[in-house]
Amino acid sequence: MDDLRQKYLDAIANAGDETALEDLRVQAIGKKGEISLKMRELGKMSPEERKAAGPALNALKDEITSALAAKKEALADAALDQRLRAEWLDVTLPGRPRRAGTIHPVSQVTEEVTAIFADMGFAVAEGPQIESDWYNFDALNIPPEHPARQEHDTFFMSRAAGDDRPPHVLRTHTSPVQIRAMQAQGAPIRVIAPGRVYRCDYDQTHTPMFHQVEGLAIGEDISMANLKWVLEEFCRAFFEVDEVELRFRASHFPFTEPSAEVDLRCSWEGGQLKVGEGDDWMEILGSGMVHPKVLQAGGIDPEKFQGFAFGLGIDRLAMLKYGIPDLRAFFDSDLRWLRHYGFAALDVPTLHGGLSR
Ligand code: DAH
Repeated sequence: MDDLRQKYLDAIANAGDETALEDLRVQAIGKKGEISLKMRELGKMSPEERKAAGPALNALKDEITSALAAKKEALADAALDQRLRAEWLDVTLPGRPRRAGTIHPVSQVTEEVTAIFADMGFAVAEGPQIESDWYNFDALNIPPEHPARQEHDTFFMSRAAGDDRPPHVLRTHTSPVQIRAMQAQGAPIRVIAPGRVYRCDYDQTHTPMFHQVEGLAIGEDISMANLKWVLEEFCRAFFEVDEVELRFRASHFPFTEPSAEVDLRCSWEGGQLKVGEGDDWMEILGSGMVHPKVLQAGGIDPEKFQGFAFGLGIDRLAMLKYGIPDLRAFFDSDLRWLRHYGFAALDVPTLHGGLSR
């Protein structure tokens, strides 16, 4: 019995796979297995012999059964281990992009402008790029015969034949978002609206599609002084200089009264723009106190509320800040240009982390 025991335990320990193990099971404890046959012989034994051999054989059978089970599990573990080693993959390896994408200067500057105004409590508002002529013009105090309508070089959408309602337009500025935001939120309100605008124009500083940011702040006692502070604060943060000087030049926009164009003190010495010093002035935006008729169009009571608005060109700000000479190249999708002027995709502009690096 001891020989039998040792023989099978050794064989089980040395079995290389599950098939070998199954063969051993059949050989030892299968129906015609060596141990099973011995158990059948119990009947021929004397009661004395049987008393000793019976429990011993049963114990041997149990021992072989559990040795088989243990070896089976060990083989399965080893197989899994081997598979895990074979299929191992270092997921911490960095990717190997064949070409790193970059952030377009327009997107970069939009993020920068948004971060600065968000810090001053302005939320971001949006409106459609295909706009009704009421939102784009009438609501902004530009009636049909007003010369500003011609100046805007508007793209008109076409109507179906027989439909003689006034055509929709591609919005010529972000100012209609002022109206939509006032209608949606009422007063007080503080929003900026960055987005695409369209005018039929094309030269070194004009493209048929370009980008603006509109600003609007309405409350019970918002004044031109608040406008001046907000714009100075914006220029300081945007151009990343400690001091800026702004010049408010009287101007005219139908949607503001009074209206001002704002110039920034700068120098162009050596072809390099420096903000806050020098003897040049650079026009950067249009602004003013929102016209009572515009407040009314937005559903706000001009007897109770007043405030300022401004509009500035994002592409122009990008050209100035990053020294990009030709606006048209912004929209050519030339990969060499994008790689040269683009920004790292993971450097999101924030006031605390730095706007541009
Ligand atoms: N909408 C004007 C334009 O596209 C820019 C502008 C000027 C917006 C004055 C304003 C503003 O909100 O007050 O030329």
